[in-house]
Order: sequence, then structure tokens, then C-alpha cells
Amino acid sequence: MEKIWTDGAMPWEYVTVEPDEQHFDCAAADRIVEQIKTKPDSVVGLSTGRTTGAMHRIVAERWRAEGFDARRTTFFGVDEVVGVPRDYSGACYTMLRTEILDAMGIEDDHFLMLPTESDDFLAACSHFTDELARRGGIDLLILGLGENGHLGFNQPGTPFDSRAWVTTMNVELEERIRRETATPTDKWLGGVTLGLRDIMHARRIVLVAKGKNKADIVLRMLRGPVMTDIPASVLQLHPCCEFLLDRDAASKLC
Ligand code: GLP
Repeated sequence: MEKIWTDGAMPWEYVTVEPDEQHFDCAAADRIVEQIKTKPDSVVGLSTGRTTGAMHRIVAERWRAEGFDARRTTFFGVDEVVGVPRDYSGACYTMLRTEILDAMGIEDDHFLMLPTESDDFLAACSHFTDELARRGGIDLLILGLGENGHLGFNQPGTPFDSRAWVTTMNVELEERIRRETATPTDKWLGGVTLGLRDIMHARRIVLVAKGKNKADIVLRMLRGPVMTDIPASVLQLHPCCEFLLDRDAASKLC
């Protein structure tokens, strides 16, 4: 593990750079495992995508090997795809179940997700955030990073004071999901997500990014101005956010 000086708004100790993907995945898994061990009734938020799959599987393996108590932990997903069945393999619910939660025997009463379909998303969003608050609020939130700087489904331009809401997804993701689910173009697909304000209320955040394709946006997120064009730049203002990177994602920082 290497600590680097970012020479920008962020104090150096908030950026951790791992030498390669394997160390990165283990370090990220460590953050989740340690949180559960330290406070078994934690509320832990997870993100889906290519960045997080391996770390989830490592958490499940460590749970199997070490047998720590995760029955009292509440897990939730930061966002969900709208307009697809929940059991579609690309729905965040199914990804999290497959990658980590089924293996750890976590039931749905300890796994909160925004719905993929609803007649009243507004009500579903407030129910979701109310339930997180009722369980004590978010202790740890693992966040992936979009190549355009999005967090969850909060695309560039999202106001920093947004609460959980339904919004659009990026074009590439939408095309892939349409292809995989054979969803016709006249059916709207989008995303439902915690808002940036909800995200900023987490007690502790770990932003995870790996790979060369994230190097430009990592640079803009950490060294650029805090602005809604780069939603992730708001994390510069969070009092307890670690930026966990592999060397490729950090390659433009020094
Ligand atoms: C997706 C998800 C985000 C995720 C991000 C990064 O669109 N909505 O929650 O963190 O993009 O994905 P990846 O890790 O595949 O780059």
C-alpha cells in the first residue's frame, strides 16, 4: 500500500493507492469486513459494477473462512436499475445477492434495495431513506465511480442537495441492458439512486476506482474544482472519505 500526496484540496491520508488489482480488491474487502467486525449491527452500503464484484466475493470468502457475525448487519445498494425485472442478472439486487449476500446467508430483512419497478417511486425512495435512518443511518458506504464522474445514478449536473430519486442512466449502460433484456426502445429505462445529499450523510465513505479508464476522472474528482459537472468532486467536502485506488486509476495524480 502506498500513500500519495495529491497536492490538491484533499489531505494525503485520504488517498490509498494499491499496487495492483489484487491488492486493491483485498483492501476494499478489508474495509467492509473490518466494519462488520467492529460494529456487527452496522448499516453498510454497496455498489455494483466491474469495480466491486471481486471485492464482494472476497468478503464472502472471508466470512466463510473466519465466521464473523454478519447477521445483524444491514446491507443496502446505493442504486438500482429501473424498468427491468429484479431477477435480471444485471439488476443491482441480483448482482449483490449473487456476488456476496447469498453466500453469507443474508435475508431480505437485512438487505434493503430500491425497487426496479414501482407505481410510486417517490414513496419508495422515502421509505428507503427512512428505513436507513431508522436503523441508525449509514455507517459505511462503498461507492463506485462512473467514467463521467457519476455516483450511483447521479449523473453530471445533479444538484448536490438531491435526495433519493429516479433519474437517467448513461447511454452505454442503457444500450447494454436493452440488449441483454430485449427491452424495446419505447419502454423507458433509468436508475433510482440515493441522492448526493443522502450520500454525503454517510458517516464514512470509501470511493473505489481501479483501471486506466478511471485515471482521468480520478484526477478531476480529486484535483479539480468541486462542481456538479463532476458529481464525485463533492466527496472532497466529506469529512471521512477515503479514496481507494489501484495504481492505474491513480496514474495521473503524480
Ligand atoms: C454504474 C452504477 C454505479 C457504479 C458505476 C461504476 O453505472 N450505477 O453505482 O458505481 O457505474 O461502474 P464500474 O465499476 O463498472 O465502472
